[in-house]
Amino acid sequence: MVNWVGKLIGLLMCLQCVTQLHGMFMKFTNVTCESKDFSKSRVEYCEVKTLGKNKNSIRLRYSMLQPVFDNIGFHFQLMTKGSESVDGTPNWQPFLYAVNLDMCRFWKNRHNHLAKMVFEFIEGHSNLNHSCPYTKEKFISIDDVTNTEVSSMIRGIPMAKGFYSLFTRWSTENITRVLTNFYFEVLSV
Ligand SMILES: *[C@@H]1O[C@H](CO)[C@@H](O)[C@H](O)[C@H]1NC(C)=O
Ligand SMILES: *[C@@H]1O[C@H](CO)[C@@H](O)[C@H](O)[C@H]1NC(C)=O
Ligand SMILES: *[C@@H]1O[C@H](CO)[C@@H](O)[C@H](O)[C@H]1NC(C)=O
Repeated sequence: MVNWVGKLIGLLMCLQCVTQLHGMFMKFTNVTCESKDFSKSRVEYCEVKTLGKNKNSIRLRYSMLQPVFDNIGFHFQLMTKGSESVDGTPNWQPFLYAVNLDMCRFWKNRHNHLAKMVFEFIEGHSNLNHSCPYTKEKFISIDDVTNTEVSSMIRGIPMAKGFYSLFTRWSTENITRVLTNFYFEVLSV
């Protein structure tokens, strides 16, 4: 019941965010996935899907070829795009401090505010959200996270218009296993 009411309120607030002129709106511009160890995981898919003129979504899936028990690190940092360098390559600069999480510990106490927010973005769209170990999964996926949903969640956050990226890295035994970057543009409505 509470959940249903929350969703309804969220929906009404989002309608408001589209109609109010000072709202914030984001669109995905790209998502990249990279596996550093093909014996452990492979990229199955990783893409932005266009759903309409102002609507898109992301989906990605890594196969899991070996179980993961402990020592899982999740590292992320929100970046912003600076002016391009001479050769035209984008110049990503930190927008917020880097977060390095011990995931197994995080699932127990959820002590990190930024990480809580990141996992809220994918809640209901991912099979990631459970405590360690990860032994039964054949894959880890994030499916159909839409820009409109994320937009309604970031409205309160002071972010100027522009291009951003959430750089993420998963490690086990302190060795990088996969790299996933989420690129998006913040526009105002
Ligand atoms: C997304 O990023 C990949 C890897 O950097 C690149 O090959 C691709 O062209 C990009 N797609 C878009 C739409 O920018
Ligand atoms: C993840 O799962 C837990 C337990 O099922 C739940 O309480 C929580 O709200 C879920 N979502 C996030 C973002 O932690
Ligand atoms: C993990 O690796 C980093 C960089 O290679 C190092 O600085 C850090 O001390 C390592 N942490 C552990 C727990 O081994």
